[in-house]
Amino acid sequence: MSIAYLNGEWNPMSETKISVLDRGFMFGDGVYEVVPVYKQKPFTLKEHLARLGRSLAEIKIINPMDETTWVNLIEEAIERSDEHDALVYIQVTRGASASREHVWPEHTPATVLVMVYDAPTLSRKDVTPYKMITLDDFRWQKGHIKSVSLVAAGLFKNEAVARGADDAILIRNGFVTEASASNVYIVKDGVLITPPTSNSILHGITRYLVLSLARGDDIPVEEREISVAELDAADEVIISSAGHEVWPVGSVNEASVGNGEGGVVWQRLDHLFQDYKSTAE
Ligand code: PDD
Repeated sequence: MSIAYLNGEWNPMSETKISVLDRGFMFGDGVYEVVPVYKQKPFTLKEHLARLGRSLAEIKIINPMDETTWVNLIEEAIERSDEHDALVYIQVTRGASASREHVWPEHTPATVLVMVYDAPTLSRKDVTPYKMITLDDFRWQKGHIKSVSLVAAGLFKNEAVARGADDAILIRNGFVTEASASNVYIVKDGVLITPPTSNSILHGITRYLVLSLARGDDIPVEEREISVAELDAADEVIISSAGHEVWPVGSVNEASVGNGEGGVVWQRLDHLFQDYKSTAE
């Protein structure tokens, strides 16, 4: 059963309801996290909780729980669910106002939602390289905040799907930022290149792990801007996220990337990632 925690209560996900005046619903006024679960254990949880804290601070919501309380709550959510390869979804909003009012209410408790759901991509049974298109990154200038306002991400993803692709790589001022819900890398002459952390991209937890695994394996890494020309000429294109780990890209705007099957650096990173996963606490 898919179970959800909402403000102190546990109920089936389908029966869990919030107020229409919740500022998450009304204004997209909240932040979220998505944490992978392997064999019923949360993965890189501390890093995700640290980013949640940073996102909350950026939008001036007081973190409703300390780290230990979060960890206990998330572990309880995993225990109550019967999912194995899963994702924990955490959302914190500014809570419900008394009326629809842009000014933040005072003394209103934040809304806390935690859900666990199945993630087929984590089983690694079918890692078919993605077809990507490129789209103009018109999002706001605070991409480092994991905001629940995902209307832009939905527009990108749906345009990609409507055009027969899986997802979109976003371009701002001629340079790659990220994809609709993942970070982007290219490989050129054996060098793994990814845009630097800035306010234009989400500082992916998977990204940090991938870069540190690459460095530990002597794969040369560059954190720098990637131009559209470099994207087009890349030997490999890779994406990463909590739900996709490291995932190969087979084509960009219908042009094949390498042989379209995922290249040697992706294979190596995937191997390192699976190894790390199996040994991580
Ligand atoms: N997406 N960039 C964006 C815009 C994202 O939404 C995500 C994650 C990432 C990768 O971050 P991480 O490695 O910490 O998952 C990068 C999540 C999974 C989602 O919205 O479902």
